Amino acid sequence: MDNYINIALPKGRLGENAYNLLEEAGYACPEIKNPGRKLIFENSETRVRYFWVKPSDVSIYVEKQAADVGIVGLDILLESKPDIYELLNLGIGKCRMAIASKKGAHFPLDKTLRVATKFPNIAKNYYANLGRDIDIIKLNGSIELAPILGLSDVIVDIVETGKTLYANNLEVVEDIVTISARFVANKSSFKFKTKEIQKMTEKLSLLCDAKGEVQ
Ligand code: PRP
Repeated sequence: MDNYINIALPKGRLGENAYNLLEEAGYACPEIKNPGRKLIFENSETRVRYFWVKPSDVSIYVEKQAADVGIVGLDILLESKPDIYELLNLGIGKCRMAIASKKGAHFPLDKTLRVATKFPNIAKNYYANLGRDIDIIKLNGSIELAPILGLSDVIVDIVETGKTLYANNLEVVEDIVTISARFVANKSSFKFKTKEIQKMTEKLSLLCDAKGEVQ
């Protein structure tokens, strides 16, 4: 292992916001702004190396120590329960995990509920706590289609602006949990790069406080 801090960033808007936060915190890597097809970027002055990974894979890279730290949504952490340290709530990427169904739909409590979702563990836990029988239909995207096509009764999914639900004549039935992005670290990296990781956490924490982003 070299003395770089290896950071897994989620591809997409959350990753761009996360990178901007890291840049403001003093961990710039200008080349990352013109990525092309490259996935790894490093800055030999700040000793940081960034990887662009699929958002749902960030916690895998961190847990397996392919990255020392990463930025990941609470939804992914709740779903996959990785064995890593959650160091900071960054307050970005805010949304909620919710149950939604077709507008006005009702489902008898004594019937098994068909639940389509990308988050089977979150859905199972939620309904287990209610003592409700469910069948999970695991999908990988466009979850909103499931109730429209009669594939499921409800969905458990991320709601950010609510526009996707609205455009598809669906409505939120119940909120499950509020989601935001977390700064996470590999446990062994934290032990061996304590000073550097703590310094990064403190700088990010000061920035988040200043922005009033963390609730
Ligand atoms: C997510 C989520 C919803 C949508 C919610 O999907 O699964 O479909 O965003 O956002 P909104 O409330 O602002 O409309 P994503 O864009 O990740 O695509 P997916 O269908 O591949 O899951």
